[in-house]
This record gives sequence, structure tokens and C-alpha cells, in this order.
Amino acid sequence: MLQKLNIQVDSSQANTVLGSQTHHMSFMMDKENRHFFIKDCSMSFLLKNRPQLKAFLKSVSLLIDLKKIQYKYVTFDYQELFAGHPTKSCKDIGWHTDGSDNEYLLIVWGNKRTEFQSLPQLEIDHGNLYQYDSSDIHRGRILDKGECRVFLRICFSNKVKPNNKILFSF
Ligand SMILES: [Fe+2]
Repeated sequence: MLQKLNIQVDSSQANTVLGSQTHHMSFMMDKENRHFFIKDCSMSFLLKNRPQLKAFLKSVSLLIDLKKIQYKYVTFDYQELFAGHPTKSCKDIGWHTDGSDNEYLLIVWGNKRTEFQSLPQLEIDHGNLYQYDSSDIHRGRILDKGECRVFLRICFSNKVKPNNKILFSF
């Protein structure tokens, strides 16, 4: 069930990554070993050259402590998106649910934020942390010209296994 957590994540670090190129990357963390597993090897290059992004991701990773340790794996999905790449800003699959038996933490900064059917205003608030699960109906949105968005989703699952190289630990 969708829940707005009373946590506003400082967007100043998100703002430092806005203004750069478009990226879409996924990485996973093995909670037991406290390691990140990187799906997209371009992420390695990006983090090496963008220390502010690394710091931002590290600070957000602390949000994991909000959850009880009941899931085996944690997956981060991070997108930094600009209009001009509208087909990449969202798959536009309409209303849907994510996975099965998973839980998620979601933060979106910027324009055209995720909409949930259970919210009166539909759109989630800028920079606020939300928790949802596989039962929550929602949809992503395509950016219009001049708009940008930073999206961070953390998925808790017993099914998605990390299988990528370790980039750094914390
Ligand atoms: Fe989704």
C-alpha cells in the first residue's frame, strides 16, 4: 500500500546531477555484504568522474535502514532524464503494478513525477520519499520539452539476484 513517509530528501545533491547528460542505469546491492553490483558498466565510469553523484547515492542508501531486514536483495534504479529523449524518459506502459511480492522506496525530483491511483492529486511530491509495494497501481510519464527529472527507486525483493561486478562498498 502506498505510503508517504515523512522524509524529505535534500535535493541539493540531486540538483548537482541535473544539468548533465541523460543516463539510465541500474545497480543492485547485496545487503549481507553491503556491496553494490553494477548492471551498466557505464555507471563505473560515471561514478569515477562524478564524485557528487557517488555521495548522493551513498546518502540515499542509508534509507535502507528504514526497512526491516526481511528481503534478500536490494536493487537501485537511478535515472537522470531530460526532454529531448522522450522515448527514454518513460516506457509509457500506462497504469501498472511492479513485480510481485516486492516493496519499493521511491523518490523523484523534477518534472512529470510518477502518478499513483490512490493519491487524490495522482502525482507524488517532489523530493519526498514514498514506500509502495506490488499492489500499488501507478504510471510513469513522458517529459515535455525543457523538462528534466531525477528518479531513484529502491526495490526490496527475494527474487532479483545481484549478478554484476562490485563497484564499491559502504
Ligand atoms: Fe512501475
